[in-house]
Amino acid sequence: MWSPTSQTAATDTLISIEEGALADVLLPKTLSQNAQIGKLGFEAKCATCHGLNAAGQDGVAPPLVHIIYEPTHHGDETFQRAAAVGVRGHHWPFGDMPPVEGITRGDVTMIVAYVRELQRANGIN
Ligand code: HEC
Repeated sequence: MWSPTSQTAATDTLISIEEGALADVLLPKTLSQNAQIGKLGFEAKCATCHGLNAAGQDGVAPPLVHIIYEPTHHGDETFQRAAAVGVRGHHWPFGDMPPVEGITRGDVTMIVAYVRELQRANGIN
């Protein structure tokens, strides 16, 4: 079940805790225009596995809001490659990620903008 986000008064972020999620993700209060577009793409093409707010799904796919995916370790091109040709499972016990059908480099650029803004709200820079 999806549980509603609740506001934490003292900060400029919202926290989202999804059932089955592998990470508690702080949500930025605002997203850039590109990130807003990316959020739609993410929810259409990635969230079925990586979970809402990229918080991961137990037994399915990892959270992308995770220190492993910080920009210096998994740069933006990693995301492009993952979408275009898939990923051989190596960091997690969830198996391979298949290539994502029906998505352009431009779409992935927006998705990366979204994931980076989520990461930054969680101190992953
Ligand atoms: C069918 C399920 C599934 C879908 C859909 C999916 N992923 Fe993945 N993804 C995975 C799994 C599983 C892994 C973990 C591989 C591992 O063990 O390192 C992964 C890993 C990744 C990685 C890490 C790549 C690396 O080199 O380690 C990135 C980036 C990524 N996904 C981005 C995306 C994006 C962006 C989308 C949507 C466009 C997406 N994924 C859709 C299952 C999925």
